Amino acid sequence: MNMFPTKVTILHRLLRFRHPCWSCPSLGRAPCSRLVLGIETSCDDTGAAVMDETGGLLGESLHSQKQVHLRTGGIIPTVAQQLHRDNIERVVQEALERSGTDPSRLSAVATTVKPGLGLSLGVGLEFSQRFVRQHNLPFIPIHHMEAHALTVRMLQPVAFPFLVLLVSGGHSLLAVARGVDDFLLLGHTLDEAPGDTLDKVARRLSLIEHPQCSTLSGGQAIELLAKDGDRTRFPLRTPMGQTYDCCFSFAGLRNQVNMLIVKEEAEEGIEPGTLLSCVKDIAAATQHTVASHLAKRTHRAILFCKATGLLPSGAPTLVLSGGVASNQYIRKALTLITDATGLRLLCPPAKLCTDNGVMIAWNGVERLREGKGILRPYVDVSYEPKARLGVDMTAAVKAAAIRLPSVRMKIPD
Ligand code: KG4
Ligand code: ZN
Repeated sequence: MNMFPTKVTILHRLLRFRHPCWSCPSLGRAPCSRLVLGIETSCDDTGAAVMDETGGLLGESLHSQKQVHLRTGGIIPTVAQQLHRDNIERVVQEALERSGTDPSRLSAVATTVKPGLGLSLGVGLEFSQRFVRQHNLPFIPIHHMEAHALTVRMLQPVAFPFLVLLVSGGHSLLAVARGVDDFLLLGHTLDEAPGDTLDKVARRLSLIEHPQCSTLSGGQAIELLAKDGDRTRFPLRTPMGQTYDCCFSFAGLRNQVNMLIVKEEAEEGIEPGTLLSCVKDIAAATQHTVASHLAKRTHRAILFCKATGLLPSGAPTLVLSGGVASNQYIRKALTLITDATGLRLLCPPAKLCTDNGVMIAWNGVERLREGKGILRPYVDVSYEPKARLGVDMTAAVKAAAIRLPSVRMKIPD
């Protein structure tokens, strides 16, 4: 179902060595393939990567702010901004050094400019605009969710159109990818994103105090604890059971879990901030409900695509990506749906599901190849904290009001 990191590493090496960067006779020692520098600062990761036109990764660097934000109990935008400022120069320099290249050999710089935290996006954009002007390079503004959606194509051939479910700390959406810059939005979250919900539940459960979880993100901590939990002990309602569209909602689920925690704290006679003895069961129930909700909305999106001919009839594909997609239980839930509907499920490895510079460089490569959205260095670009992906089809999905056949969400542990 998914590609394993080892396979990806091997693939990258093959691509890198296959690429005749230094052996083009007509150009002497000049590179034959165009190189793109990708820069990511939309949330709490400062990432950079250099990639050649074949998708060969030449060098990358990533600075994660996770440990700082875990200690402060969530992302404080001004703190994130300062950390991006402190690290961006070094991260870009490292990616260039590791790729054995310098700015004069680049063909373009691709940078996330939307959506995300304004203060964070601003750092990457300001740095990039200075950089492209200094080195007289074309600039490719990148939509962060487009980059998540296209990452899979860096790893294996996946033809358009395909269905994509993107789930992260800031987003939850279902879209049909029809081209590099051509998406149909089938569903999005009406309130918070699943990663945000998992992070908040983890904080409310004080999982940072748990010896196995102190350095894990909320989603990772919940996945780890849920492995030994009983998901049936605390039944939670799957959101939006009576709404026949593909949108998501997680705020109500968080409320259910919060009420459950308050009740259990009272029963165990402990204060908030202390670990409950039933913490693993709560983690398992929460994870199961998030997985079921994602699976059901995706099931309806697949049926909508089948009814409207939006996906190819032979070998249609569902791509699952974004930080929450690294959750194995959620992957298994989605597998139940793709097995039942005859789709193949593709998930990039966890390292490429969470934010990184590689996916931005790849999006830059895809756009460069097609000549789409490439700007001269002196064109002014603004960042956009909020930016929908593609053409909004949510009303049409809702109007279709597709009822789901029952699929037992018996997700193997
Ligand atoms: O894509 P990402 O790196 O950043 C955003 O764009 O949000 O995703 C980060 C989110 C966090 O909310 C984190 O808790 C969640 O992804 N996450 C997970 C797992 N690993 C990271 N959620 C569930 N299970 C995981 N294994
Ligand atoms: Zn992301």
